[in-house]
Amino acid sequence: MASRTGVFSTSVGTKILIGLTGFLLFLYLLIHIAGNLIVFAGADAFNLYAHTLESKTFLLRPIELALLAVFVIHIYKTVRMFLANQEARPVKYAMKKGAGAPSRKSFASTTMIVSGLWLLVFLLIHVRAFHDGWGQEYPLANGGRDLYRQELETLSNPFLAVFYMLSMVVVGSHLWHGVSSSVQSLGFDHPVWTPRVLTAGKTIAVLIAGAFIVIAIWAYFTGARS
Ligand code: HEM
Repeated sequence: MASRTGVFSTSVGTKILIGLTGFLLFLYLLIHIAGNLIVFAGADAFNLYAHTLESKTFLLRPIELALLAVFVIHIYKTVRMFLANQEARPVKYAMKKGAGAPSRKSFASTTMIVSGLWLLVFLLIHVRAFHDGWGQEYPLANGGRDLYRQELETLSNPFLAVFYMLSMVVVGSHLWHGVSSSVQSLGFDHPVWTPRVLTAGKTIAVLIAGAFIVIAIWAYFTGARS
């Protein structure tokens, strides 16, 4: 089968591909939160960040396409794997039990498909609102757009603010299991370093989700007052 459809169609290949694309998305989120924290430096700094990014169109568009491809592969492969696993186990267990001490089974790990699909819906709404040229924008006199105002106005909507906060909890849960899972799927296995890397992955997952939640709460209150 591997020779006909390629190594990424085997179950090991699928796991590697999911691990690799998941890890790339995690790296994107690290960059994304770093960029978004500039919002606390004020409107000028944040708009300069956005303008610098968006004026390098020749670089930005290929990176966006690559990111889109990574998202599509990650979602397609995970959904296919989930459906294949369901088919392989048609009778549902009468009672769900934890797998005991050495197992990494957790709430986050057993809800990956739900958290992942939630994030797909979040992404469609989010990118529609913020991608340059798609949402409600406020052009600046000296070029570029007032992304600071756009962010505050978007998140001053209480429904959207709550949706964002819930979605960030979902991001945290997805990354909590996803980062360690991707590290292991990529074959990282060391008696001392693996546990440390897994703990670091979980810590960074909480920090990323926490930082986004702080931004959403701050933007809601700042946007609602202005
Ligand atoms: C409070 C939470 C978040 C805020 C305030 C926020 C804000 C923004 C802003 C201002 C942009 C447009 C400028 C830029 O690219 O930096 C953007 C784009 C984007 N965000 Fe977020 N973001 C949040 C969470 C997330 C999460 C959790 C994900 C992924 C799961 C995500 C994925 C994206 C993507 C894919 C784009 C489009 C990039 C492009 O246009 O090329 N964001 N976000």
